[in-house]
Amino acid sequence: MKKIGVLTSGGDSPGMNPAIRAVVRKAIFHNVDVYGIYGGYTGLISGNIKKLELGSVGDIIHRGGTMLHSARCPEFKTKEGQQKGIEQLRAHGIEGLVVIGGDGSYRGAKALTEQGFPCVGVPGTIDNDIPGTELTIGFDTALNTVIDAVDKIRDTATSHERTFVIEVMGRNAGDIALWAGLAGGAETILIPEENYDMNEVAERLRSGQERGKKHSIIIVAEGVCSGYEFAKQLQEATSFETRVSVLGHIQRGGSPTAADRVLASRLGARAVELLIEGKGGRAVGMEKNQLVDYDIIEALGKKHTLDFDLFKLSKELSI
Ligand code: F6P
Repeated sequence: MKKIGVLTSGGDSPGMNPAIRAVVRKAIFHNVDVYGIYGGYTGLISGNIKKLELGSVGDIIHRGGTMLHSARCPEFKTKEGQQKGIEQLRAHGIEGLVVIGGDGSYRGAKALTEQGFPCVGVPGTIDNDIPGTELTIGFDTALNTVIDAVDKIRDTATSHERTFVIEVMGRNAGDIALWAGLAGGAETILIPEENYDMNEVAERLRSGQERGKKHSIIIVAEGVCSGYEFAKQLQEATSFETRVSVLGHIQRGGSPTAADRVLASRLGARAVELLIEGKGGRAVGMEKNQLVDYDIIEALGKKHTLDFDLFKLSKELSI
């Protein structure tokens, strides 16, 4: 393989830049040319493709976002869109593609692979919802952003003896809520993977208050319901003075943490190795701190599973 492409797609995540850097530097180290595809699959269809050099990825390791930009591209869900993409890749002499993104991006990579164009998926999303890897690039940074917000909200919650409902991202997965809730000492964590019982939530708040707790933090994953909707239900069931904070896209920005930079570097470099070894149609991941790769088509048939031991622990520690 002499020429490969790299793109970022879907919701951006902190750590995509170090992943791009790793792809470019690893490929050039092995005398493989690298082409950046700008604007995700939209840029692929329109041919927004430029050669990247060693210097093209200088000074980005610490930056959030993605220097290649990103997009959600409905046209790429169609056979025609995918064919246009393959034509662009072939016109540039590109023989393999690294796709950095979440499950939507993987579906695009899977479609290209099924049509005979080798792709390797690199898990880049704050949601941590990609099957086949324990961690996705951006999850750790997003968690740290959430915890920073939770710590600050806790200060004002204590001063005013209030209950705070904090809504976090994660799409249909509860990982951000769970990990941030555990690390931030939240009293209650609501995740889409498990139904909640409002009486139990209310009881927990009441018993905390009776023991002299001056505040309560409830983390709600967006996949459960909106923070405002939950707060409304809570106020109907209790008399606690409640405020809502929706953290929103702040969770997607910021300088990637060291953990995300290292993860991105390892996964990006491994993706290039696979293409050089002639192994397309794979996705890379991390299991027990070891690099793994697996069939991208099979992987999409699997479901990401939340760590229920961690959820149980969070309940035990927040009594
Ligand atoms: O997948 C990342 C994510 O931030 C989700 O957590 C969230 O549901 C979604 O993207 C928001 O998408 P958009 O930026 O298109 O509004």
